[in-house]
Amino acid sequence: MPKLASVIVFLGPPGAGKGTQAARLSATLGIPVISTGEMLRQAAQSGSELGKAVEGVMASGHLVSDDLINEVVDERLRRSDCNSGCILDGYPRTVSQALSLEGLLDRLNLPEPVVLNFQLASDKIVERLSRRRQCPQCGASYSVKHHNNSARCERDGSLLTRRADDNPETIRQRLELYHSTSAALVDFYRSRNYHEIRASRTPSHVSRELTRILRGSRPVTAIPAVHQTVLSATA
Ligand code: AP5
Repeated sequence: MPKLASVIVFLGPPGAGKGTQAARLSATLGIPVISTGEMLRQAAQSGSELGKAVEGVMASGHLVSDDLINEVVDERLRRSDCNSGCILDGYPRTVSQALSLEGLLDRLNLPEPVVLNFQLASDKIVERLSRRRQCPQCGASYSVKHHNNSARCERDGSLLTRRADDNPETIRQRLELYHSTSAALVDFYRSRNYHEIRASRTPSHVSRELTRILRGSRPVTAIPAVHQTVLSATA
């Protein structure tokens, strides 16, 4: 039987739980998460040319340019670990990015994406982002009940930090930007393999809803023989 590939796109406002669910789904499906936000944060941390170019934009809550992010995703999707698909978390964010992705998937012989749009009210978003803390070493994400500067990562004991863009002013800017750009993207995908996710429920409930949708969806395409060889070689 041919191996199957699936490409899953997570849309939705900041703090809706996309990253949380992407990590869970990646473990279930065995395909990588491509989080453009995470890739850009790592670039900023490393001080690379890309990092220097995007650091200020991200800290202000604006989007980095379509050309730059399309190039980053193009390079990443060509790696062999994406031959059986991937979860795209935070990309595309504009219609121009969606068109670029469409062309790229076609060139790579990957299927059209299943698009899952996370829905969450703004008051909940602000609450979640205010509570979010991350491990600077392993990237694990936490939700803290009370502000606590001495909270540590359960995995490696590192002091948890707050993301630079999780302050009230930047959260407001990110939300405004999301609301002004998301409608066009939803219009682009609505007539395709598009589903809305009730993201206000617990992470386990949301995971179950994703699994149910993906089971009933058509996210797959046969992987070309040349890609299967690569997979076997790296397995
Ligand atoms: P990015 O990193 O993509 O940020 P975002 O889209 O704003 O999303 P977040 O990571 O803030 O939220 P999330 O939905 O992943 O929520 P999470 O799971 O962490 O982008 C950052 C920046 O990079 C952008 O502003 C832009 O500058 C740039 N960028 C990235 N992609 C780009 C692109 N394509 N084009 C241009 N620029 C781009 O959950 C949040 C919190 O809630 C956590 O504490 C979590 O523990 C908790 N939580 C999760 N699920 C639940 C639940 N079900 N119930 C209760 N709490 C929950």
